[in-house]
Amino acid sequence: LFAAECRFFYAAQRLDQLPEPDRPEIAFAGRSNVGKSTLINALTGHKALARASSQPGRTKQLNFFDLGQRLTLVDMPGYGYAEAAKAVKEDWQGLMFDFLRGRPTLRRVLLLLDSRIEIKANDLEAMKLLDRAAVSFQLVLTKSDAPKPPVLAAKRVAVEALARKHAAAHPEVILTSSETGLGITELRATLAELALP
Ligand code: GTP
Ligand code: MG
Repeated sequence: LFAAECRFFYAAQRLDQLPEPDRPEIAFAGRSNVGKSTLINALTGHKALARASSQPGRTKQLNFFDLGQRLTLVDMPGYGYAEAAKAVKEDWQGLMFDFLRGRPTLRRVLLLLDSRIEIKANDLEAMKLLDRAAVSFQLVLTKSDAPKPPVLAAKRVAVEALARKHAAAHPEVILTSSETGLGITELRATLAELALP
């Protein structure tokens, strides 16, 4: 699947502009700067297909990427970005949460958590929302190259406990790093199972 050509094909600023819901979709959600766009690039083997940035608030739309017409990856704006103007922030976040709740073709949400940062109230809110909407999600610990091994191990245990507390959460937590490539092969295999044949 990931050997197929991956291309950007759509950007939506509003819910009434979404592409036809005609194939399985995987959404990448999480705090601003957690590494959503970077993870899409790592999975698809591109350097800058999804635009990543050290500045939080980089992704402001829903960006759709096609993988061989079998699976769509959706790069979402992040939440929890304090510096954006309030109205702008509410627009992106409203778009993100409405999409997560209402998209019929959404097969799984990858909810990314930064392994260097404490889990915040808005991460827990996002899990609650997915749980209530019964949208299957999987927790991914990003930037696993950064913490010291014992810190990372403790974080993993904590995140696995969170997964067990949410009915819609996949029990397995995936650790990734776009620096070392950790978890990328594993995540590709997971996503390939959700693609059209
Ligand atoms: P928004 O679009 O603002 O919501 O952010 P995002 O979640 O798309 O984050 P993005 O991919 O733009 O990455 C944010 C920053 O984190 C960039 O400076 C990346 O280089 C860095 N980053 C992403 N993944 C990793 C990783 O695995 N390891 C390390 N060390 N840095 C990473
Ligand atoms: Mg982004």
